[in-house]
Amino acid sequence: MTIIEAARHRRSVRTFDGKPLKAEEIKKIKDFADSAANPFEIPIEWVMLDTEEYSLSTPVISGEKLYIAGKMKRVKNAEAAFGYTFEKIVLFAETLGIGTTWIAGTMKREIFEQAINLADGEVMPCISPLGRPAAKMSLRETVMRKGVKADTRLGFEELFYDFDFDTPLAEEKAGKLKTALELVRLAPSAVNKQPWRIVIKDGRAHFYEKKSKAHANADSWDVQKIDIGIALAHFEIGAAHEGITAEFEISDPGIPAAQGTQYMASFVLK
Ligand SMILES: Cc1cc2nc3c(=O)[nH]c(=O)nc-3n(C[C@H](O)[C@H](O)[C@H](O)COP(=O)(O)O)c2cc1C
Repeated sequence: MTIIEAARHRRSVRTFDGKPLKAEEIKKIKDFADSAANPFEIPIEWVMLDTEEYSLSTPVISGEKLYIAGKMKRVKNAEAAFGYTFEKIVLFAETLGIGTTWIAGTMKREIFEQAINLADGEVMPCISPLGRPAAKMSLRETVMRKGVKADTRLGFEELFYDFDFDTPLAEEKAGKLKTALELVRLAPSAVNKQPWRIVIKDGRAHFYEKKSKAHANADSWDVQKIDIGIALAHFEIGAAHEGITAEFEISDPGIPAAQGTQYMASFVLK
């Protein structure tokens, strides 16, 4: 499976087959994670956690034998850097037929934080189980997917704009950027809120975070910024597929945006 197919095919997997992964599969994912960079240039340390060794479980996941967790310094843009890198790892696992679920909320944090030896000043934004999907979803998984409407996404024209926020970008008019934007649209996000908005202007794609009400006052830590990092990764993969180089920059173009919609980062498209 190619990385593009992985981005199109991926879904959260919450029911696993109860079998451990092979040592060489775990090594492949760990090696990929250890060499994965992010455009914010913030280092992240990746840890594999055997469920039996650390007595780990999470409420909505079943049949899992392994988790991956990441820890990093709690610095500016940590969320987006984590989102970008972890999604690359998630998609790499998908190419190997290994399922994942981003977990920021449904876990006992202190247990996982202890297992990875989280130090003062560090943060462990998310974890994910790693394993082979079971043949059938558990009832809990089915209910969870319905609860967050996991199989639906907002429309193209609600997410993407041409020149300014007054002009929605129709899918037929996206030209060579269609694949990149399609992959952003399919990306996973916390509670499936899809907070990413993109304005295409002057050969650049500008990424904004449209904060949901519950996160409007998130000042110290904002889980929806993780979603923006995920969107950056998906866009870059889709753009590369069309032969477009996406050069990262943070330079606010000053496009008027609604209150609660915040500029995050841009790609210069070449
Ligand atoms: C940052 C982030 C945090 C998430 N946290 C949780 C979580 O705590 N528990 C959970 O079951 N799913 C969690 N998810 C998974 C989302 O609910 C899921 O990606 C979304 O509903 C879309 O479904 P899909 O991944 O199957 O496409 C999280 C996803 C992201 C990106």
